Amino acid sequence: MALAVAAERVAAEFEYSKEDVNRGVQAFIQQMDEGLGKKGATMSQIPTYVTAVPNGTEKGLYMAVDLGGTNFRVCSIQLHGNSTFSLTQSKVAIPKDLMVAKTSHELFSFLAKQIELFLKVHHEEHYQSHVERRASYVGFGTMRDENIFSLGFTFSFPVQQYGINKGTLIRWTKGFDIADTIGKDVCALLQKEIDALGLPVRVAALVNDTVGTLMARSYTSPGKQGTLLGGIFGTGTNGAYVEKLDKITKLKNQSADAGEIDDSTGEMIVNTEWGSFDNHMSVLPDTSYDRGLDAGSVNPGIQMFEKRVSGMFLGEILRRALIDLMNDPSVPLFSDDDSSRNDISSTTTVASDSPLYKQWGLDTSFLSITSGDSSYGLKATRQALNSDYGVSAASAEDAEAARLIAGAIGKRAARLSAVAIAAVVITTKSLESSAPDGVVDIGVDGSLVEFYPNFEEYIREALRDVPQIGPHGEKRIRIGIAKDGSGVGAALIALVADKKMKGTHE
Ligand code: GLC
Repeated sequence: MALAVAAERVAAEFEYSKEDVNRGVQAFIQQMDEGLGKKGATMSQIPTYVTAVPNGTEKGLYMAVDLGGTNFRVCSIQLHGNSTFSLTQSKVAIPKDLMVAKTSHELFSFLAKQIELFLKVHHEEHYQSHVERRASYVGFGTMRDENIFSLGFTFSFPVQQYGINKGTLIRWTKGFDIADTIGKDVCALLQKEIDALGLPVRVAALVNDTVGTLMARSYTSPGKQGTLLGGIFGTGTNGAYVEKLDKITKLKNQSADAGEIDDSTGEMIVNTEWGSFDNHMSVLPDTSYDRGLDAGSVNPGIQMFEKRVSGMFLGEILRRALIDLMNDPSVPLFSDDDSSRNDISSTTTVASDSPLYKQWGLDTSFLSITSGDSSYGLKATRQALNSDYGVSAASAEDAEAARLIAGAIGKRAARLSAVAIAAVVITTKSLESSAPDGVVDIGVDGSLVEFYPNFEEYIREALRDVPQIGPHGEKRIRIGIAKDGSGVGAALIALVADKKMKGTHE
């Protein structure tokens, strides 16, 4: 079979039609509703206890830390109160062995140590004065110290939240696996290690990265309508949105928590954990490559939406599709048997230790490279195949086949992302409740929206395919990148938590 024909056949398996989008949106809305009503639903719909979004006038100096992927970030953020902020940060890669450590102590003491280093380097005065005051303190009980930093802890894993700075880990995702942490309060774990080092830091707020993104976007974005949704399309995918308190019916059954809720706005931010939308596979697309990926993953049957949308997985889907073609003797991919190729002077070989033969061996950045490759004969794609994947002398036809399939996988991911966005816009009736030409604001972050060519355009195309949104509604949806969202957002939530604490105790 000609290579181009075979590649087109595989690419067609990833088509996600207008009808598919609409069926997806309906199921998404239904599963969102289910999650608001009961614990343990497919979509967790976690109440965050954050009941107001910022308006840009917030002021103060706060700390934030961010654990959620490959790096741990520590920052201090000065909110200027005019929609702007200054941020100082340090970043360190999380040692692989700590991601799968035996005890929580190993990971969390490492995190506290990084906070100490950051304070010494960037806030020495603050740090010293606290150390001195501690040394001379002779009273009993907790020392009152106005110099204590309030810290927002961005922890981007599914957490059952019980209060603004309380929450137990439901499960690890994205390659972390420390059994000891499951069911524990991650804020308490961090505070314990901070206290052991005697640092002037109070863990004031627990924040998912999507909630941080929503808060940060709301603080910085122009206009007074506030932001509806914060979405992450990166290593993982997830969204948090502003929901009416009375729709979160499962909160009513949690009398122990009810006292903590500030209901003055009538709203609360909900962390959907949409990565697990449709885990039971009623509407999600399912190719043999998706099934192979899931079966070979550490958590089969879980995070099924995320496994079709986010950066940690798209490379692996492509790798599986390419391997299938390479294994098909009738398809001349990366092979000299291709009679249609123009350049027959060189021999194409795939190194036996090529990452293409290893699970997770193909990085999602390759999809971005090849989808954005406009060079003559797809030079950039061939170059990447050669230097990163041990494919020497790939032909333009080989590169074209890889690009076609990669493009189809990326486009399907973007159209699925649109399903999530459309469902949130529709179920919150945001287009109806804003002025007829008013804007519905959405903050996003993550490597896919930032680097994958045309990701937003593909999302928009699919939004237009949904009748309740259509071309007019799509134009009114403003999507903006919220850079450093998790840091600024965590600081903003620490501020809210501080105000709440002072309000209750003073
Ligand atoms: C995973 C996590 C979720 C996080 C998302 C994006 O889906 O479970 O909490 O928001 O990744 O980082």
